[in-house]
Amino acid sequence: MTTPEDAPLHLDQIASATFRATDEADGRLRRLKDILGFGNHNIPARLAIARSLAVADPPAAPSGDAGMVIRGQNLFGTGTDAATWVSLVVEHAGRAPRDLVEFQAWVRAHWARGAAILGGLVDEAEGNSDEVWRLIAETAVPAASPAVAEAGAGPASPDAAHAVPVVLTVGEVGEDALTGSRVTWPLNGPGRSPHAAFMGGVGSGKTRTLAFMLRALRERTPVPLIAFDFKGDMTDDKFRLDRAFAATVLSPPHAPIPLDVLWLADRSPTGVTLAAQRLRDSLATLKGAGFGAVQKGLLGDAAERALRAHSPCRLADVRDALRQTYAQQGRREDGAVTTLDDLCRFDLFRPEQPPEAFFRQSWIIRLTADLPELVRVSVVTLLTDVLDRYLNSLPDAATDGAGNRALRIVCVIDEAHRILGNRLPGLSGLIRLSRSKGGAVMLISQGPDDFSGEEDEFLNEMGLVVAFRTNADARAVRRILGPGANLAMLENGQAWVKVGGEATARRVIAWR
Ligand SMILES: Nc1ncnc2c1ncn2[C@@H]1O[C@H](COP(=O)(O)OP(=O)(O)O)[C@@H](O)[C@H]1O
Ligand SMILES: [Mg+2]
Repeated sequence: MTTPEDAPLHLDQIASATFRATDEADGRLRRLKDILGFGNHNIPARLAIARSLAVADPPAAPSGDAGMVIRGQNLFGTGTDAATWVSLVVEHAGRAPRDLVEFQAWVRAHWARGAAILGGLVDEAEGNSDEVWRLIAETAVPAASPAVAEAGAGPASPDAAHAVPVVLTVGEVGEDALTGSRVTWPLNGPGRSPHAAFMGGVGSGKTRTLAFMLRALRERTPVPLIAFDFKGDMTDDKFRLDRAFAATVLSPPHAPIPLDVLWLADRSPTGVTLAAQRLRDSLATLKGAGFGAVQKGLLGDAAERALRAHSPCRLADVRDALRQTYAQQGRREDGAVTTLDDLCRFDLFRPEQPPEAFFRQSWIIRLTADLPELVRVSVVTLLTDVLDRYLNSLPDAATDGAGNRALRIVCVIDEAHRILGNRLPGLSGLIRLSRSKGGAVMLISQGPDDFSGEEDEFLNEMGLVVAFRTNADARAVRRILGPGANLAMLENGQAWVKVGGEATARRVIAWR
């Protein structure tokens, strides 16, 4: 019998040895190679092995047909390159390999696991190469050690203990209608998008299904909730979201929101200018606000002056600055001033808490039909905006050894058709960029086409799409769900479900 001591593995043995993953892994990496335009098969294989090495758990031995052969010297290069790769693989295993066969098995397992992770990213990116690179870059960021995360991020950062895998059953029943298997969504898994879209006609079970999943989420991890409730039913006995999240229910303007909504992450001149531009863009999205190019310019200047002069700054400070600008320039007051005037008539926000304190608690903001549209849209616009700016000011959320990301906040908008189509900069920022910061956005809407008006095509960013019965034209959803998904023919309680990373949509029994 030989031991590692009397038969050490030499680099030249590894250079001339053959390595292979599985046929399935090869298929995934061929796709990656075509999309990213690599000239040979070694590069995607290295990328896969590297990706798997970034996951602390040991990879499982893959099953299935053997894949094509790459020689060690091509897979790992020579000299220092080869030595580095071999060291990384050995370091991951925690010991020297018994022999060449074991080393080959380690490489095969990493290669196959990495290929599966990268394949999921390619699916998520729908084959868009920039997007694939962005996802690779995002998911490959190493997890900070808990001590570093705590020291660097302050109290608002979720500690690494909160990075637990959150795998949610899709609905109360959550069964594939054809196979009977359980349908789950790994919300915060590596390479996953934690955002979800629910849609369907009135009474089809959207709120019911999301409320069930949110309660399950909260049992898994103590994440706070910020929910916009346009219908006023989230606190019903049926849904009980206020109790599940220990949320404070606010009804502006009767109860103002105690948040410094014009908070600045950064008071440097550039920071103030950027925040002013963002506020200008947010306010200019308000329907019927009547902001032309000139008004937008003036509003941007006024916002900048108000933000510089006041801390905390209120909307009324911005309005006063705008008035002053108009007066100085001898301009007659117009729609822009009127919009700000209208907004300031309501006591929507009071700058009592900075975002760091506010977004650590759970809130259900009721914006029911009796409120003017301007109020409802402004509250969502300004709140999503400050949440987006706040999350982006934080370091990335911690991940556990398997790459599951800790969640900092879940933002839910029920009946989102009331605000979708307004192109809110904050909401689109949250959906595009908040995942690495531990933000999750869940949108409920009636018509699937509500989503397609957004320039960012929100549906592409969703880790989960759940579509109940609707007679509305469902072109946007069919693009995501595939041509077989007929939303008009669904039975009560059934939905077409697309979990990000899975090849096809499934018909799921969500509730009975
Ligand atoms: N927990 C529950 N148990 C039984 N029935 C429920 C429950 N929650 C909702 N429902 C019923 O399920 C249907 C779907 O409700 P809901 O989720 O509010 O629809 P949507 O949000 O799609 O308009 C309604 O008929 C509602 O009364
Ligand atoms: Mg509902």
